[in-house]
Order: sequence, then C-alpha cells, then structure tokens
Amino acid sequence: MWCHRLLLLATLAISAAESAGRMNALDGAAIFADLTPREMRNVRDYLTNRPELGLTSARSKKLDKNSILLMELHLPRKHEALRALDRGQARPEREARVVVQFGDQPRPNVTEYVVSPLPIPTSHRRKTFKGDRPIKFESRPMTWAEYAHVYALLEKVALTAHAVLLESTGFAFHNCTDRCLTFSDIAPRGLASGERRSWIMLQKFVEGYFLHPVGFEVLINHRSLDPEQWTVEKVWYNGQYFDSVEELVERYESGEMEKAKLPEHDDEDLFSTYVPRGHSNTRTDKHGPKLVEPQGPRYNVERNFVEYAGWSFAYRVRSSAGLQVFDLRFNGERIAYEVSLQEAIAFYSGDTPAAMQTKYIDAGWAMGTSDYELAPGIDCPEIATFVDRYHYYDTDKPIRYKNALCIFEMTTATPLRRHFNSNFSGGYNFYAGLENHVLVVRTTSTVYNYDYIWDFLFYQNGVMESRVSATGYIHATFYTPEGLQYGTRVYSYVLGTSTRTSFTIKWTWT
Ligand SMILES: *[C@@H]1O[C@H](CO)[C@@H](O)[C@H](O)[C@H]1NC(C)=O
Ligand SMILES: *[C@@H]1O[C@H](CO)[C@@H](O)[C@H](O)[C@H]1NC(C)=O
Ligand SMILES: *[C@@H]1O[C@H](CO)[C@@H](O)[C@H](O)[C@H]1NC(C)=O
Repeated sequence: MWCHRLLLLATLAISAAESAGRMNALDGAAIFADLTPREMRNVRDYLTNRPELGLTSARSKKLDKNSILLMELHLPRKHEALRALDRGQARPEREARVVVQFGDQPRPNVTEYVVSPLPIPTSHRRKTFKGDRPIKFESRPMTWAEYAHVYALLEKVALTAHAVLLESTGFAFHNCTDRCLTFSDIAPRGLASGERRSWIMLQKFVEGYFLHPVGFEVLINHRSLDPEQWTVEKVWYNGQYFDSVEELVERYESGEMEKAKLPEHDDEDLFSTYVPRGHSNTRTDKHGPKLVEPQGPRYNVERNFVEYAGWSFAYRVRSSAGLQVFDLRFNGERIAYEVSLQEAIAFYSGDTPAAMQTKYIDAGWAMGTSDYELAPGIDCPEIATFVDRYHYYDTDKPIRYKNALCIFEMTTATPLRRHFNSNFSGGYNFYAGLENHVLVVRTTSTVYNYDYIWDFLFYQNGVMESRVSATGYIHATFYTPEGLQYGTRVYSYVLGTSTRTSFTIKWTWT
C-alpha cells in the first residue's frame, strides 16, 4: 500500500511580488495592534490634563464624577488601511477610542472621544453616532465604585432582615465567618429607557456561589448619583412579594406568610465545587493523550501578525467585545478584511423576578476585558504560544492580563480528506489521505458565572471556522414549583433556568 502526504506550503522560491505582499501584511498588522500600555498611559495623561473635561480617578467612590470608563484602539477607515496593506503606503495614524462618563454635570452623559495621534496624542474629537442622540447616562455599565455602594446598601438590607436570613438559610451577611452570603445582580436594569433599577439575588458565599440562590431577591433603584438616595423598591422572598424589607420582617415575625427553610448546609457535600470527586473508570495516575510538536512549531507569530500554512492575519482583543482578526489572507489573497466577535446575548425567563428579567448582553459587561489567564494543558495545550493582553477598563492604569490569548497548531484526529479506492473484488487500487492540522487562536471571556471559549480555526484547505464553547456555571435561581416551566431543578432548592443564547461574529469582505 502506498500513501502520499500533501506537504504544507513549502518554502519554494517566492516571487518578488509575493514577498512585497507579505511585507505589507506584516507591517500593516501594526494598524490593528491593541493599544500598548505606554499608549494607554499617554492617552490618559493627555485627557487628564484637559481642564475642561475635569477628569478624576475612576476608582474613587464618588459616582457624580467625570472619569474614563474604557480605552481601546480606534480603527482607521478601511480604505485608509488598505492603502498601506495593498500598496505599501504610509500607515494611517494610530488613534484611541475613549469612553468617558460625565457624571459631574447637571445632565450627565456618556461621551466617546477619538484621541490622536499615538503614541503622543495632541488632539481629541467627539465621536458621533447616527442621529447624534446622547447616550443615556443610566445605560452605562456598572463600575467597581457603584458595586461598592450596592454592597453597602445590601448590608443595610441584610441587617434589617438578619433574623429572617439566618433562620431561613443558616447564612448571614453579618458576623458570618464561614456561613456568609453574597449577591449577584442581573440585567437589564429596568424595563424602560432611563431607568436604573436592578434585581439582586442573595446567594451562599461558597465555591460556586452562582448555584446557591437562597430565595431572597431585592429590587434596588440606584439611578441617583447620590447613593444615599437609593431605595429598595421590592423584596421577593420564597415566592412572595413585599414593598419593603421592613414589611417582610414584620410579616415574617407575625407568622402571616410562608417561611422558607433551606436544608442544613453540608460542607462535606458541596455540589458546586470543582474539586473532583466520585469514582472514575479512567486511571488518573497515568497521563492522557497530549499534543506534541516533534520538531517545534510550524507557525510564526510576530507581535500581532501570524502566519501558518497558506494563512496570514493580524489579531487583536478588543476590550469591549473580544477577539478580532484583520487582513486575513490565504496564499497571499485577502479573503476577509475583518472577522470579529461582536456580541454574546443570553435571554432567560423564569418565576422569580431575577430569573424572569435576565437578559444578558455581554459586551455591556466588557466581555473583552474578562480574558483571564489560560492554564497550559487545560485551557490550551502545553505547546501553545501564550500572549499577554492589556486592558484599560474601570481603572486608572493599564492592567496586564497574563497569558490571556493562546495560539497553537493541533490535529483534529480526523483526516481532512481520505479515500480508499476499492477494486470491488476484495482489494484496492489505491489509498490516499491527508492529516488534518489546524491553527487555533483562542481567548476566553468569563462573564461572571459563565466562561465562553472563543476559537478562530484556520484549516490548511483555506477554511476558517469560528467556534464558541460555553462552560463555567449556569445561571441558577431559587427553585419554586412554577419555575419548572422555565428550567430544570438541579438541586433541592436550585433551578437551572433555560436560556436562548446567541453570538454575533462580523465578517467584512475584502
Ligand atoms: C456630554 O457632556 C460633555 C461634557 O460636558 C459635553 O461636551 C457634550 O456636549 C455632552 N454631550 C451631549 C450630547 O450633550
Ligand atoms: C455582630 O457582632 C457584633 C459584636 O459582637 C455585634 O455588636 C453585632 O450586633 C452583631 N451583628 C449582628 C447583625 O448580629
Ligand atoms: C482486487 O484486489 C485483490 C486483492 O489484492 C486481487 O486479488 C484482485 O485480483 C483484484 N481485482 C482486480 C479486478 O483488480
């Protein structure tokens, strides 16, 4: 039997035109490179030194302040980029997109600026959108500072309801040592434009607290920029609604309502833990299969420019929405200008208010910035190339996200194509097949309870695939019998609500 292998792009003599094209692609990749920490600091300093903007620290606890929420690369127009990519002309100037929250003015707003040129900015202009309608200040994402105030309000709520919580759950917010409560908030924050009201559910603060709702939810109105003005508008406890925490406590004490009592918490049987347990039929004292590169990597990464087989492309990870590739070429021909992740949306329904209102639109939770460190051998093969990322979000300085992106070549363990040419008389004329090797570029987004794994895959036959895998913890709410119409009971007091989730990837052709 003979078998032939098709070789990947051999380094044959490449023509002068091809080599110039490659140089343009390599140089042009810089157009799409994310902001460097130095560029971020320069943009911050430039804007902070504009007295008319009155910017202060994003980390201070005040809400009625002007501060930078997010900073990322502002892409040039496509035709400007193409002049550099196709004709080797000068690259367009690098610019930054900066989202500023103006909270310290009579009509607070969110404004986007384009700051240029980088690395030493000297000017900024307001970025306008279709219709030039102002962005409602109430629609802004939650910040670290606002969460600190939410926590303080919940502490007050929990203090009033201390006895109710302790008796019903065995857990508390105060004096709790290893029996503490935490919370999760859900979005959208209201049902009409201009509202900022969030349902918040309390959970046991144990490993995997997402799976431990305790049946206590509060609706807080946090629209005011003065946290002293915030109010609790509704309380939901064990299937019943109350207009205030005081009303719940009063009716609880007088016994004119249905009390909840969670089963005794068993630390030895924490169903939500990631610690492996139970019996496995696969030996764990022997390594499983591993990827190896017997003679080293066959792809090339130069800053944000990647080459593999016939492919070349530039990549970046946008702080708002995540992974993007640009100037995607196969055998020297551009087959896409941009392929980029845009959005991940998860819609829920349910019986408890937090369950029925949840509609997560994850770019609004800055899913691009939640690309935490990847573990070699688990998140990516050990042989992968790991790359750090930098984000500037709800912070006063660039933050390094170590090993947040990985690139590796793998085998799919299925041939890309094969044929057994039978002679239909018990033998064969020939057999031929091709091993399937694929280059993978991977990042993740841990948007609170769940983890999305984003892959762009490049096959040697010119196919590109985008793939998302969803893992982490499910969005769980307190079990009620009515809840069974919307999900599955996953533990005695926990309901896993079903979701309709969709992902958007944008392709821009050559
Ligand atoms: C938002 O606030 C900024 C800073 O005060 C101001 O320059 C801008 O004009 C405002 N935008 C709108 C649409 O009102
Ligand atoms: C927590 O403990 C402190 C000190 O013992 C006590 O003063 C306080 O009342 C306790 N708080 C609650 C909510 O029980
Ligand atoms: C098919 O292959 C078998 C096994 O090698 C051989 O004996 C037979 O002669 C072949 N038949 C034809 C028609 O080639």
